[in-house]
Amino acid sequence: MEKIVGIDDIATYVPKIYLDAEEMANARGIPPGKLTKGLGIEKLSIPDAHEDAATMAAMAALKLMEKNDLQPKDVDFIHVATETGPDASKPISCYVQGMLEQIYGKGSFDHVGAPETKFACVGATYAMIDRLAYIASGWNRAPCAIVVATDIARYELNSSGEPTQGAAAIALLLKENPRLLVYEPKFTGFGTVDDRDFFRPVERKTAVVDGQYSIACYLRDMRIAVDAYKKNMINAGVLKSGQDSLVDKLGLASFHSPFPKMVQYAFADFLAHDWRNLPRWKTISRKIGPEPSREGMTDVEYYVSDDHKNFRRKFTKTEEFIKEYEEKIADSLTALRIIGNSYTASVWLGVASHLETRRDDLTGKRLGIGSYGSGSSAIVCSFIVQPEYKEVAKGIKLMKNLAERQRISMDVYEDLHEGRRQLNESVIPPKNEFALVNLGTQSHDHGYRYYRYIK
Ligand code: CAA
Repeated sequence: MEKIVGIDDIATYVPKIYLDAEEMANARGIPPGKLTKGLGIEKLSIPDAHEDAATMAAMAALKLMEKNDLQPKDVDFIHVATETGPDASKPISCYVQGMLEQIYGKGSFDHVGAPETKFACVGATYAMIDRLAYIASGWNRAPCAIVVATDIARYELNSSGEPTQGAAAIALLLKENPRLLVYEPKFTGFGTVDDRDFFRPVERKTAVVDGQYSIACYLRDMRIAVDAYKKNMINAGVLKSGQDSLVDKLGLASFHSPFPKMVQYAFADFLAHDWRNLPRWKTISRKIGPEPSREGMTDVEYYVSDDHKNFRRKFTKTEEFIKEYEEKIADSLTALRIIGNSYTASVWLGVASHLETRRDDLTGKRLGIGSYGSGSSAIVCSFIVQPEYKEVAKGIKLMKNLAERQRISMDVYEDLHEGRRQLNESVIPPKNEFALVNLGTQSHDHGYRYYRYIK
């Protein structure tokens, strides 16, 4: 019989400092409303001088171990996904393993597999599918796998991407018969196109991005993946072709959020695509007019066109859109509005935000995932929320951690961004956490990263 596998628990890590979006807007001469309303960003999570993607990942993994009372022998894999790893050769997962061994004892994790997956912001979703498939196959030697998503979103100062920066990590505990979310493997859909919307050559600390074009690539790949997901559902007899709405089958959903407004764009296009041939679309067309023609246009040309954007703006103001958005999407963004982009962690932080902030009973509801990574690939998949989720979700405490952060000024932010603070010049000195304490300078360890748990 096929094994039931999925996500048993979630632990998050966010840096303790943040920058207020309005302060950034004022400093950059942008109307604050453009960031808070136009992009949907209120606060940007900023890593301190002693932090990097590896320390954040180790903090999330340690939290997951501790709150589930796990021992190293219970863990089969520590699998980390990141696009902002500090080394082009050594995987961040091995640094994380070493940090965890500072707590659990030298050699305590030497039995684990520890790969790193990179595919921009969709990497963690690929890693999760790999690990779940492994557990479902029965090849695992220990009951649990830990997948950690960790990233620092960083763009050039004064660039259009700068206000969308952020940083966070999230660790997922994967096993059989999970308490939170059961995966529905057969429906998963992929959409992949070799593209240049966003990338970071190895010599660069900040990403190269073609902003509006990247939005269109996100929408294009998501449409391909949604079509694949829908086809799989039809083949499984869960959806009737041409009669049923896919969105009606979802109780809630989390999309990758480079900035919260992008999720609104994606959900609007998802709904329009899903409803276009259903009777309800006639009601909407009567209110806002017909969809613009896309004849002779590629997907990307259509998505960047003013006609499409104007139509989408009108659609997002209809009561039909607002009802679905409020019911299925809005709570995923509660945390993301005050974190900023965290690349591959973002879509999973949206899940944590939903589970923690929604007050209605989610038991038995289908959670849809819309994961996108530049370069480019989208994954659309789903889970069923389990009855024990309420108890487990109480321990996530992401919102509490976000509320406890300290605000920093533009000057401090710019110093951190430009690397003008030494590792020991943190805004909040590390305590009960992993810290990057040294970078090797000798011929045998030049650039090697030394981490320590600071009590
Ligand atoms: N008050 C309220 N709203 C305002 C406003 C004001 N004063 N001024 C502008 N706005 C609104 C605009 O109307 C627009 O909203 P609508 O689309 O609903 O009309 C919104 O603010 C954004 O305005 P622009 O499109 O003009 O924004 P921009 O071009 O300056 O910047 C961006 C947007 C291109 C995404 C930029 O932030 C960027 O380059 N970001 C990095 C790349 C990125 O995030 N891409 C997303 C897809 S790729 C991906 O998802 C992977 C990843 O993580 C990077």
